[in-house]
Amino acid sequence: MSDRKPFVGGNWKMNTNRTSGSDLARGVTDGLLQLDGVDVAVYPPFPYLLTVRAVLRDRGSSVKLGSQDSYFQNDGAYTGEVSSAMLKDCGVQTVLAGHSERRHVIGEKDELVNKKLRAVLESGLDGVLCVGETLDERLAGHQDIVNARQIRTGLADIPGSLLDRLVIAYEPVWAIGTGKTATPQDAQDAHKQIRSQLARLYGEEAAQRVRIIYGGSLKPDICADIFAQKDVDGGLVGGASLNAGDFVTICKAAASAAKAK
Ligand code: PGA
Repeated sequence: MSDRKPFVGGNWKMNTNRTSGSDLARGVTDGLLQLDGVDVAVYPPFPYLLTVRAVLRDRGSSVKLGSQDSYFQNDGAYTGEVSSAMLKDCGVQTVLAGHSERRHVIGEKDELVNKKLRAVLESGLDGVLCVGETLDERLAGHQDIVNARQIRTGLADIPGSLLDRLVIAYEPVWAIGTGKTATPQDAQDAHKQIRSQLARLYGEEAAQRVRIIYGGSLKPDICADIFAQKDVDGGLVGGASLNAGDFVTICKAAASAAKAK
């Protein structure tokens, strides 16, 4: 049995509405009522956080409430932004930082991702740092260099004392939303490199405790082989998290894989 409890996040992205978001949250909580051996979080869009929170609370669910983004300042003249303090006030427990769509569609740079992640962890919330190479970077064989840079800059000035609340998500950009999942071996190779990088930054023991999850076209039928890899500790799920049944199956597969390790 793995020492690291797996983590599965459902990243709803800019999908759902008030009704379908509540229905989805109900479907997930009902499907996971009996489940232990895996930490699960859902990341709805900002306007539906309180609605989803109400569903999770009503059901007494241990599914965590997550936010897809946050800003690094606490409050002030930052039109359109939302701080970690505000998210905490709304019951959020975990926040994504540096998702590939924030990096490549919205244009966030490593330094901004680092400021956001630091603010999240310093405010007492859990943080998920997302890293991953583009297709061009992979074709050039640069995936390890890119991941190492995103880890090093993303974690700059973050002390080891905050690592217990950190999850790393390896999400190759070419696999996100494309239907092209990384092979289990590709995922394991990348996760192993990321763990060695963490060991260089924080020491071997700390690196062994950090959960590194895979994201990119995870589906119920192919997730078990990826979760079975030694350094894969769960997943970040986009498209398949919009279907409660599929998401629940993926969460269960992560729990079973961890038991078998
Ligand atoms: P996908 O998205 O599962 O739809 O590929 C994953 C993610 O972006 O977190």
